[in-house]
Amino acid sequence: MKKWTTSNIPSQSGRTAIVTGANSGLGLETARALANKGAHVILACRSEERGKQALDKIKYDKPQGSVELALLDLSSLESVIKFTQSFKTQYNTLDLLINNAGVMTPPASKTVDGFELQIGVNYLGHFALTAGLFDLLKQGNDPRVITLSSLAHRWGKIELNSFSDISNYNSWREYGQSKIACLMFAIELDERLREAGISMKSSSAHPGGTKTDLQRHNLMSRVLDFMYMEASQGALPSLYCATELSSVSGSYIGPDGWFEMRGYPAPAKIAKQVHDKDCRKQLWDATEKMAEINFDVS
Ligand SMILES: NC(=O)c1ccc[n+]([C@@H]2O[C@H](COP(=O)([O-])OP(=O)(O)OC[C@H]3O[C@@H](n4cnc5c(N)ncnc54)[C@H](OP(=O)(O)O)[C@@H]3O)[C@@H](O)[C@H]2O)c1
Repeated sequence: MKKWTTSNIPSQSGRTAIVTGANSGLGLETARALANKGAHVILACRSEERGKQALDKIKYDKPQGSVELALLDLSSLESVIKFTQSFKTQYNTLDLLINNAGVMTPPASKTVDGFELQIGVNYLGHFALTAGLFDLLKQGNDPRVITLSSLAHRWGKIELNSFSDISNYNSWREYGQSKIACLMFAIELDERLREAGISMKSSSAHPGGTKTDLQRHNLMSRVLDFMYMEASQGALPSLYCATELSSVSGSYIGPDGWFEMRGYPAPAKIAKQVHDKDCRKQLWDATEKMAEINFDVS
């Protein structure tokens, strides 16, 4: 694959996109690039103050497209429902959903609904959000759902019991679990879309190592900062999945360089366990039960 950059993004004029966690790091750069190419981008952020600052940063570039802020706290399923309900009062369709927000290795803590914070925010919140917006995505033009995973998915293992039990908390293990869950969700959603004959794309992206606020809880990661890419480059795999006309549903895209830590978008290595169809189905079914959501892909 030739070096793919933002200059390859076709016009996004007329497209409506939601980017979660758009006030910093990869989300901000993803939203900025989409708006610069003409999209209307909804910055779905949990903090009004930080969200407004992000709006100002993007507007400063005088983008071709437009941006607005909508409040969304992925650590609360009630907030996810409020967000989708409010979105539906203003929009009939959605073209792009970028499930980007995330937390990494925080101290042991739980979401409002009693889930371990990383699985709750990174995975469950986005599952619920995608389910809530699914009808609008079906009405979209070349609709796509992009869910952020990580190199950390490779050590991730699904342990359904640990979703709401933090008595044996290990921050890196739970982060890996949340990111393999995100990748399994993207792949399973793709398969269900194909089976249902729905022309929507579901892909996953990872940004290798990118300098952002994600490392805030982790001194070791911050020490490695010098190896990391700038957020504008780290956002390219997400942007590739979101906009490249030839991108394939069900793909997993990351940087093509050294150990997938740096570089330009290319197909990335998927851990073997992601291909376990039974495990993906169990995860989907359990998630529906835990989040009390019926996500019927039809
Ligand atoms: N940076 C990397 O090297 C790297 C590597 C692999 C994967 N990733 C993935 O990339 C994604 C983006 O991370 P980033 O590196 O850009 O980190 P970041 O700069 O910390 O951005 C994370 C975003 O998620 C938001 N967020 C956190 N908790 C939330 C919640 N409960 N509800 C709504 N939004 C919430 C944050 O909002 P606040 O500002 O309000 O906290 C922030 O906007 C994550 O999914 C991460 O796992 C990053």
